[in-house]
Amino acid sequence: MSATALRLNAFGLDNLSLEPLALPDPGPTEILVDLHAASLNYRDLMVILGTYNPKQALPRIPGSDAAGIVTAIGSAVTRFKVGDHVTSLFFQDWLDGPIQPTTGKSALGGPIDGVFSTQHLFPETGLIHAPAGFTHAEAATLPCSALTAWNALVEKGNLHAGQTVLLLGTGGVSLFALQIAKAHGARVLITSSSDEKLARARTLGADDVINYRTTPDWDREVFRLTANRGVDHIVEVGGAGTLPLSLKAVTPGGHIYVIGVLAGKGQLIDPTPILAKAIHVQGVYVGSRAMYARMNAAIDTNHLHPVIDSTFPLTQAREALTHMQSANHYGKIVLNLKA
Ligand SMILES: NC(=O)c1ccc[n+]([C@@H]2O[C@H](COP(=O)([O-])OP(=O)(O)OC[C@H]3O[C@@H](n4cnc5c(N)ncnc54)[C@H](OP(=O)(O)O)[C@@H]3O)[C@@H](O)[C@H]2O)c1
Repeated sequence: MSATALRLNAFGLDNLSLEPLALPDPGPTEILVDLHAASLNYRDLMVILGTYNPKQALPRIPGSDAAGIVTAIGSAVTRFKVGDHVTSLFFQDWLDGPIQPTTGKSALGGPIDGVFSTQHLFPETGLIHAPAGFTHAEAATLPCSALTAWNALVEKGNLHAGQTVLLLGTGGVSLFALQIAKAHGARVLITSSSDEKLARARTLGADDVINYRTTPDWDREVFRLTANRGVDHIVEVGGAGTLPLSLKAVTPGGHIYVIGVLAGKGQLIDPTPILAKAIHVQGVYVGSRAMYARMNAAIDTNHLHPVIDSTFPLTQAREALTHMQSANHYGKIVLNLKA
């Protein structure tokens, strides 16, 4: 079976092209997967535009997340069989334990080729079974944004019922964090640039909503809504543009998970509030396979399903990425790799 991949030949959306992909038979510990769906992450857009790693070697196949069916396995493979429904793991060799100095080198769609393709050859360590009953599109949304939200709030944060969580915007990471926080009995405050998206977030379980365009000093509103206490956890996807206000909005002894750069990077941040309020500031970089397995159990038990904004065929990947760039989406954007 011949495969097709979306290849980035030079930085920029106009330098993506669909090209044939030749794949060898699986080696002893390798697995060939017929990929059906992929999802977009803000990171993929940054990789393609050259803002993620300007020194990125090209050409490269982008793509961090995908799901599909195992079609061939190597002679030493034990965890998977032909016909299994699987998703990729963002890090192809982070099985368990803390992140290691070499972990970042195995990230799909950056240092190694990613999954915007109709087939991919994975090491056995690079896959996990999809949650039961999930479609390919749903399963393809999990590896990067869902696991990042899970790692922050549950693995690092030990979130528990009655605590307060602040989420910034209604992108992929934030809406998974919303569902995970509600499944743990937390109170959720969420910001957005759009009242319509905030209304949708309420139907997903958000308790309090703030429009960060019409309320630019949203930290004050967080204080008002929490009786001047501040929140226990902030899933910080904004970066330099939002971190100063997040440092104000968090309660003394609270947690800020530094995850994204949607609102910029590279600026100086005053560290004084971190010490004065004894804040836990924790970087989060996706997660391990063991964390993913615990997340899948929670997804299963709580009947969680991802919020999918829209689905585009692989042939319209550029339009899908432009849609992400516009920030008009709510939740995850999916690529149908079979259309
Ligand atoms: N560290 C990690 O392991 C990891 C993993 C996944 C993602 N990330 C990073 O996390 C960030 C989010 O990723 P994503 O895939 O969820 O992105 P996304 O789906 O593209 O999120 C876009 C949304 O973010 C919101 N946003 C943009 N600027 C904002 C601001 N100044 N304040 C508040 N919200 C703002 C907007 O929501 P509204 O339209 O509602 O305003 C926008 O629609 C990215 O920087 C990504 O690179 C990091």
